[in-house]
Amino acid sequence: MKSALVTGGAGLIGSHVADLLRSKGWRVRVLDNLEPQTHRNGMPAWIGKDIEFIKGDLTDRQTITAAMEGIDVVFHQAAYGGYMPEIAKYVYVNSFGTAQMLEVIRENKLPIKKIVVASSQAVYSEGAATCPEHGLVFPDVRPVEQLQAGDWSVHCPICQAATKPAPTPERAPVGGETVYGLTKVDQEKLVLLWGKQIGIPTVALRYSCTYGPRQSIFNPYTGVIAIFCTRLLNDLPPVLYEDGEQTRDFSFVEDIARANLLVAETDQLDGLPVNVGSGEGVSIRKVAELISDALGIRIAPEAKGEFRPGEMRHLTSGTERIRAAGYEPQVDLATGIGRYLDWIRQQADVRDYFSEAANILRSKGIVHRVKVNDERNG
Ligand SMILES: NC(=O)c1ccc[n+]([C@@H]2O[C@H](COP(=O)([O-])OP(=O)(O)OC[C@H]3O[C@@H](n4cnc5c(N)ncnc54)[C@H](O)[C@@H]3O)[C@@H](O)[C@H]2O)c1
Ligand SMILES: [Zn+2]
Repeated sequence: MKSALVTGGAGLIGSHVADLLRSKGWRVRVLDNLEPQTHRNGMPAWIGKDIEFIKGDLTDRQTITAAMEGIDVVFHQAAYGGYMPEIAKYVYVNSFGTAQMLEVIRENKLPIKKIVVASSQAVYSEGAATCPEHGLVFPDVRPVEQLQAGDWSVHCPICQAATKPAPTPERAPVGGETVYGLTKVDQEKLVLLWGKQIGIPTVALRYSCTYGPRQSIFNPYTGVIAIFCTRLLNDLPPVLYEDGEQTRDFSFVEDIARANLLVAETDQLDGLPVNVGSGEGVSIRKVAELISDALGIRIAPEAKGEFRPGEMRHLTSGTERIRAAGYEPQVDLATGIGRYLDWIRQQADVRDYFSEAANILRSKGIVHRVKVNDERNG
C-alpha cells in the first residue's frame, strides 16, 4: 500500500485528492492548519475517518518533519491563495513553506518517492494569443495605464496588433504578475529544480480555475464560482471586473484530483510543469449566466469598470501534455456548477462576504477603477 501526505488536505482540492487516494487503497495523512479564512467553522465534516489528520502549520519545521515520516508521495496542496492583501503571508506560507519542506526531506534523507506540487495558471503573465501577422505570441501583462483608460484588449508584443486568445502551452513564459502568482512560480520552480538536484521525481500541476463541492463559501477573495453563487443566493448581483468578457478555463475539482493521481502513478510527466484544465475558455459573464440559470435567480451582473492590475484577460490551458499522458476531464461546466449548487444548498450559512472584502480590496489598491468614461461600463 502506498502512503501519501496531502498538505492542505482539508481544502477544496486536497480533500478530493485525499478521498480519491483512499478509494484506490492508499494510506492518507493530511496536514492542514484549517486557515480560518477558508474554514470559518473549524474542522470540516468531510474529512474521512480513515484519513489521518494532523492539524498543524506547514511552515512549522517540526510539524512538517513529523508529517512526512513514512510517506511515499507528497501532494503539496497547502497554500495561501487568491487576491488577498497579506502579501508577506503569501511569501511565507507558499515560498518559504515549500522551500523548508524540501530542505527537511533532504536533511533527514526521507525516502519520499515523488512530490506533486499544486501550481497554477497564475504563473503566466497573460494567456497566449494569435496575431494576424505573427501567429502564436505570448503577450505581456496589460499596462495599468491602458486598463485605467477602460481598454481591456491584448496586443501582440511584436507589432501591437489586437490579438485573439489561444490555448496557452507550458512553454509560455512564466512571470507571476500578482504576489500570489509569484509565489506559485516559486513553489513550482523550487520543487522541479530541487527534485532534479536531489533525484526525486516531481511534477508541478498548473491547475486552471478549480471549483466544486467543498469550495469555501466563506472566502470572498478567491473562487469566482463560489463568490457568484453566494452573491446570487443573497439576492445580490455578481460583480464583474473589466467588462466580464475576460475568459477562463474551469476545472471540476474531481477532475483535478484525477490529474493528481495520474501524475503520481506515471513517470511520463516527471520533472515537468503540466497544465491541467478543460482546454476551453468561458467568459466570466457566461459563468454568471450559467449560475443564474441553474439557480433560477435572475439578477443581472454588475460591471462597474473595476479591474485588478496584473490580471490576465484570457487564459485557456493548453492541455496536450497531460492529455498525452491519458488525462481527460469528465465533468463539464454546467454539470459541475449543478453539483456545486447541490452542495451549497446543504450548507447552513450562505452569507455574502464579498461586499466587505471588495471595499478592503479597493482601499488597498488591489481593485482599481477606470479613470475615464466611468459611466460607460456602469
Ligand atoms: N482552486 C483553484 O482555482 C486553484 C487554481 C490554481 C491553483 N490552486 C492551488 O491549489 C492548491 C489548493 O487550493 P484549493 O483551491 O484547494 O484551496 P483551499 O483554500 O480550499 O485549500 C487550501 C488548504 O490549505 C490549508 N492551508 C493554508 N495554509 C496552510 C498552512 N500554512 N499550513 C497547513 N495548511 C494550510 C488551508 O487550511 C486549506 O484547507 C493551492 O496550492 C492553490 O494555490 C488552486
Ligand atoms: Zn504581431
